[in-house]
Amino acid sequence: MKNKGYFISFEGIDGSGKSTQIQKLAGFLKSVGFEVIVTREPGGSVGGEEIRKLLLQGEVDRWSAEAEILLFTAARRDHLEKIILPAIDDGKIVICDRFTDSTRMYQGMRVPNLRNLVDTLNEKVINLDPDLTILIDIDPEIGLKRAKSRKTVEERFEDFGVDLQLKMRKGFIELAKEFGNRIEVVNGQQSVDKLAQDICSLVKVKLL
Ligand code: ADP
Ligand code: TYD
Repeated sequence: MKNKGYFISFEGIDGSGKSTQIQKLAGFLKSVGFEVIVTREPGGSVGGEEIRKLLLQGEVDRWSAEAEILLFTAARRDHLEKIILPAIDDGKIVICDRFTDSTRMYQGMRVPNLRNLVDTLNEKVINLDPDLTILIDIDPEIGLKRAKSRKTVEERFEDFGVDLQLKMRKGFIELAKEFGNRIEVVNGQQSVDKLAQDICSLVKVKLL
């Protein structure tokens, strides 16, 4: 067992099963003796959760893509300072529901050429990549149906509709090629337990 902190992010379109699989993975890692922190973006810290409300509630056209990049990055910086870096320094495993890859996709692809702004800001004020990213790939029709069945007030992004999710799915697969040494793609259209086994196998290779 390696005795150092480790940072795992989960990515994928809405309803792909990230939260479900994060709980499963955290349970497994705790059962074999790791200290694990589960967190999420936007949010994770007190300030980050306040910004989350601004971003995920309300009308679809509430923010431009540029304004969103600044808000997501501000939330991430606070989360990094208060939660992620201290936990990693403490030797814990941090599992985060979404990280910079989501901004690269959702904001970076909404308007042409915004990916550069995401990457520049990321380099200047975040400057941390996960050690491992699990990308759960799923048909957007299925993902959106699952996401919509939850009925929360945080539906601003789901309300962009299936076309955005289709674009995101394609973008995420491209991103997995771009960051081939970090991003592992798994099939979200299988049972919760089968998918959890696939993810566990990938993580075991890195940590055990
Ligand atoms: P995400 O965090 O990616 O939005 P969730 O884990 O919250 O996704 O899952 C969205 C919904 O789909 C939840 O109601 C969850 O119980 C259900 N779900 C998750 N994984 C599966 C799966 N493999 N098969 C069927 N339903 C699933
Ligand atoms: P999340 O709570 O993970 O939603 P879900 O469980 O439906 O996948 O994230 C909320 C929304 O925020 C999601 O639709 C994607 C969006 N988002 C961005 O647009 N950019 C970002 O940088 C992040 C972290 C999330």
